This record gives sequence, structure tokens and C-alpha cells, in this order.
Amino acid sequence: MKKNKAHSTLLNRYQKLINISCDLASELDLNILLSKIVQAACEVSDAKEASILLYDPNKKTLYFQAATNLDSRLKRGTAVPLDESIAGWIVNHQKPLIVDNPQKDKRHFNYIGQITNIECSSLLGIPLISKGSVIGVLEVINKKGGSFNKEDEAVLLALGAQATVAIVNSRLFLQSDLIGEFVHEIRTPLSALNAAAHLLKNNRVHEDQKKKMIDLLEAEIQSLSDMSSSFLDLARLESGRKQYNVNEFDIRDLFIECHEIIIHEAHKLNLLFILDLPDTLPRIRGDRKQLKQAFINLLNNAVKYNKIEGELILKAKAEQDQLVIIISDTGLGIPEDEQSRIFEKFYRVKSHRDQVPGTGLGLSVVKHIIQGHGGEIDFTSEVDVGTTFTITLPYEV
Ligand SMILES: Nc1ncnc2c1ncn2[C@@H]1O[C@H](COP(=O)(O)OP(=O)(O)OP(=O)(O)O)[C@@H](O)[C@H]1O
Ligand SMILES: [Mg+2]
Repeated sequence: MKKNKAHSTLLNRYQKLINISCDLASELDLNILLSKIVQAACEVSDAKEASILLYDPNKKTLYFQAATNLDSRLKRGTAVPLDESIAGWIVNHQKPLIVDNPQKDKRHFNYIGQITNIECSSLLGIPLISKGSVIGVLEVINKKGGSFNKEDEAVLLALGAQATVAIVNSRLFLQSDLIGEFVHEIRTPLSALNAAAHLLKNNRVHEDQKKKMIDLLEAEIQSLSDMSSSFLDLARLESGRKQYNVNEFDIRDLFIECHEIIIHEAHKLNLLFILDLPDTLPRIRGDRKQLKQAFINLLNNAVKYNKIEGELILKAKAEQDQLVIIISDTGLGIPEDEQSRIFEKFYRVKSHRDQVPGTGLGLSVVKHIIQGHGGEIDFTSEVDVGTTFTITLPYEV
């Protein structure tokens, strides 16, 4: 009788697992997928919390990606050293591990405990293995009413296998989608290059025209090269392979640095660049390099789509628990019927395409970075008046 009962609960767990697996298989958005996996891991192993870390084999580092108890995404991307963590042990040994009282285990990486504020009394971790290589680690902690056993391990391993397939699929899907769009986008500059090269070869071009065509060739080559690097950034961000290198830093300094970089560009077009910052701003946790890239992209737009002798402003202020950053310009503006499209990959406002060079990828990268930091980005715009982008970034008080 007792055996029967145990059997049926195990069966129930596997039944649950099958339902969850179907759901995972159809989820292609990597972030949603990861949060579904941690929820599912808790459910099937009766754990209170779960987290998932993804492994970057090039940097030999694990990065914290999703957890059931993370209220702010600021902690996403925290690097976890292989040598000093239980998850690292799991990667190195490619084996599951059950640890009672992990806080006493010398492999325990205490920092995670600190940033999640969770006391950890029991832990079960499994490697996520695809084609013989570890892609990450799934950990559940604090089993409801006891410690983890071999049965929990077996169920979690079964879930891990499904989760791994879903993660790999989601990455492949993102890649194929992006590659298709990229190939489509490079056709036009490639055919322009082809035509110019063809004409130059035929020697029927006057010397003065030659110079113009070579300039054109150079501009197209530059545009292809810009497109490839933005494209690579975006592909890495979308597939979750570009990791946020999270540290605490002074964001006021970062704004001053951005101002110094962009003011040269602004002066070339006789633009006035106003930096409006309070004396102090809260320190924030995030990837400084990525955030710098996001602000530079927005400021570059504010310069590129401005009018001669126009103005741009970078302003920041701290509110209760978030930082508000405003980047505004007095430029061309964005027509209302195109406003909903500007964050799409490769989208460029029709009337700007012939006037200003660009790849249409900058804002997609910005949105990824801001949302990856738990923030939001929005804008208002009026044609021939200007555009104002507002970014909010959470910080801890
Ligand atoms: N400040 C702005 N004022 C007016 N239009 C803008 C502004 N910022 C963006 N846009 C419009 O949104 C489009 C998308 O911007 P995005 O930064 O993604 O691409 P881009 O500037 O064309 O190329 P790049 O990848 O080099 O940044 C731009 O092509 C432009 O039409
Ligand atoms: Mg841009």
C-alpha cells in the first residue's frame, strides 16, 4: 500500500514533468523560457527556490541568469567563479550533487546567498549538458519538509534534459531568425558595391567621377562593417550569450564620460550639448560597458537626427528607487505612424534613410541592454520639433 502511494506520487511528478516539458518546448523567448524552467524545477522537486546559471566556455565562467526569488533583474549576469562554487563543481565534474547545509560546504559561493537574501539549508544541483558540453547548471534549494533525495535528483535530471533542449532550440531559433534578416539587409549595400566595382573596372568613368565612386565604396564598406558589429552585439544579447558583467559603479562619472565623447561630434554640427546632472547620483549595479554603449547609441542618434545649430540634452535625476535619464534633441523627429517601429531590428524612418547613414540596429541594442538591467525605455517625438527618450533604471536604496 505504502509502496503504491510512493509509486503514484512519483508518477504524478513525471506526469507534471511531461506537461511542463511540452510547455518549455514551445517557448522560444530565452528569458521567459529560463523563468519557466526555474518555476518548473521548484514544482517537480518540491523546492522553495530555484535558480539557473548559464556557462560561458570561452570565459570559463558561470553567470547567474534567472531565479524564482529574484525581484530585480539587476542581479542577472552576476559572475560565479568556477573554483569557488558548488555550481562550478557541478560544471567541472559534469555530475549532479546533493548538499545538506551548503553554507558549511567550502564550495558554497556565499555571494549568491547575499544577493538573494536566502538562507540555504539544502541544495540539489544538476548540470545541463548538450552534446557532451555543459551549457549551465540548474539548482534547487530548501526542500519543503526535508532534504533532497535520489528521487528528486532523477526528476530534476529529467527536467534538465528537457530544459537543455529548449534552451538550445531557443538560441538556434534566434540565430536563424537574425541571420535571415541580416542577409536580407546586406543585399542592398552589396549590390551597390558590386555596381561601383563593375563601373570602375570598365574604365569608362571620368577621373572626377572615379573619386566620387571610391568615396561611395568606402561609405558602403563602412556601413557594412558597422552593421556587422551591431549585428553581432545584438545576436549575442538575444541569445543570452553576451553576459552582463555586473558591478557597482558611479553612473554620474559615466554620464560625464559620454558627454566628453559626444561633444566632439556635436561641435562638428554646431550643436549645443547640455549636460544636466545633480551633484550626486546613487551608485548603481550594472554592466558599465553595456550601459555606456546604450547611452552612446542614444546620444549618437540625438546628434545624427538633429538640425544644424540644434540642441541636445542629457539629464539624469534620482527618484525613490529608480534613476530617470532623459536624452532629448531638437531634431527631425519621428512621424507618428512610424513611432511604433523604431525599436524593430533594421527599421529606419523612411524620410531619414537617404539623409543620414545608419543600420537601424542601434535602438534594438539599447532596448535589450536597458531591459536586461530591469529598466524601461520610452520616447515622445514630433516631426521637425525633436525627440525625447526617457529611460528608467532601478537601483537599490
Ligand atoms: N533621436 C532621434 N530623432 C529622430 N529619429 C530617430 C532618433 N533616434 C532614432 N531615430 C529613428 O529611428 C531609427 C532607428 O534608430 P537606430 O538607432 O536603431 O538606427 P540607426 O541610427 O539608423 O542606425 P545605427 O545602428 O547606426 O544606430 C533611425 O533610423 C531613425 O530613423
Ligand atoms: Mg542609431
